Amino acid sequence: MKTRVLMVCLGNICRSPLAEGILKSKVDPQKVFVDSAATSDYHIGHSPDERSVAIAKKNELDITSQQGRQFSAGDFDDFDKIYVMDMSNYKDVISLARNEEDKKKVALILNEIFPGENVEVPDPYHGGNDGFSRVYEMLNDACEVIAKKI
Ligand code: 4NP
Repeated sequence: MKTRVLMVCLGNICRSPLAEGILKSKVDPQKVFVDSAATSDYHIGHSPDERSVAIAKKNELDITSQQGRQFSAGDFDDFDKIYVMDMSNYKDVISLARNEEDKKKVALILNEIFPGENVEVPDPYHGGNDGFSRVYEMLNDACEVIAKKI
């Protein structure tokens, strides 16, 4: 059985598509399935933000085939681990949990590198390209740890 990992942010166009692309590049696709989703319905069916596409490309990753989709309670059945980017995502995902088992699957992604500190991946949507570089570095560090653990 493959390990199934879901990356979640607000829009599924900036942070979680990058997290999906980065983790995919570090794991064996025969062993690990990686996907991403949004807590909101703002960008269903949309391609990743061009700034995420650009920073991914700079790091030799192609995330252009991804399409935004919304998280739903059924994802608790379909995934073993659900990584969220910030506390707002955490609250939104936890609010859909049906039981304790569902809740245990959800974690802030940066707790993989800063255990227990609840550091958030900042939402880069309203900022410049610099924000996307920092987000890329944070997610790359976290995904390195996740890939080693799986
Ligand atoms: P993301 O960034 O959650 O990292 O995909 C955002 C994308 C879009 C919006 C907010 C955050 N929005 O308000 O449309």
